[in-house]
Amino acid sequence: MRVWAVANQKGGVGKTTTSIALAGLLAESGKRVVVVDLDPHGSMTSYFGYNPDELEHTCFDLFLHKGAVPDGLPGQLLQSTSHENISLLPSSTALATLERQSPGHGGLGLVIAKSLAQLWQDFDYAIIDSPPLLGVLMVNALAASQQLVIPVQTEHLAVKGLERMVSTLAMINRSRKQPLPYCIVPTLFDRRTQASLGTLRVLRDTWPEHIWHGYIPVDTRLRDASRAGVTPSQFDGKSRSVVAYRALLKHLLTQLLVTQVA
Ligand SMILES: Nc1ncnc2c1ncn2[C@@H]1O[C@H](COP(=O)(O)OP(=O)(O)OP(=O)(O)O)[C@@H](O)[C@H]1O
Ligand SMILES: [Mg+2]
Repeated sequence: MRVWAVANQKGGVGKTTTSIALAGLLAESGKRVVVVDLDPHGSMTSYFGYNPDELEHTCFDLFLHKGAVPDGLPGQLLQSTSHENISLLPSSTALATLERQSPGHGGLGLVIAKSLAQLWQDFDYAIIDSPPLLGVLMVNALAASQQLVIPVQTEHLAVKGLERMVSTLAMINRSRKQPLPYCIVPTLFDRRTQASLGTLRVLRDTWPEHIWHGYIPVDTRLRDASRAGVTPSQFDGKSRSVVAYRALLKHLLTQLLVTQVA
């Protein structure tokens, strides 16, 4: 199994959309995918038609055993989605209570890594959607993954948020065996605005080695897909955002080969 986290400490940059778009494309190509919703707001869980306020069993259950993960528990929590190849480990609003705890205390930092280890044979990919703040949940996402995707909205404030995310990553890397490779993905790009064009230029100049050279355009089809509860490629495989996400996926898969060889 390959594990990717999608994270940025800034809110509303397209993390959930990117997680679902990539999962949808992988699923379409026949890969078995588990999507993990670690955001207490549960946007991904809601996207697939579940209510994070009402679900009886969720990711939260994984955190209730002092850092240990009981045998078989992650598999019992899986829910089906609009695509037969995508399973969901759903979120609960109760996850918010964890954010107040320090990951070092109680050994809670590796709960998701341990949970995914139990699902290693059942899935080809895991994609973890993270909350927009640094806490136990984001630490879990980063500790469990082999590749990080950082969606960055192409607007002025985005660069500050990205700087914060990159320094968080440097901190996390100190406790990892290998640094986590990351890929910056410009999102919500509108070629008619100076803010989008200017930010894209700054991103490309500042992080040339980590940026994906395409961008995800603003596309109302993404909102329509979300309303329909299906992945963007299920909704409209030819929309411009899906074309862009397909190019991104190809890049991520190539980048992965490079890091495996290195
Ligand atoms: N490329 C896009 N074009 C148009 N709308 C988009 C695009 N990407 C995301 N959106 C919309 O913008 C909103 C925020 O996107 P999303 O929920 O993916 O961001 P997020 O980073 O996960 O937010 P949060 O930090 O709140 O979890 C959603 O309504 C989504 O449908
Ligand atoms: Mg989100």
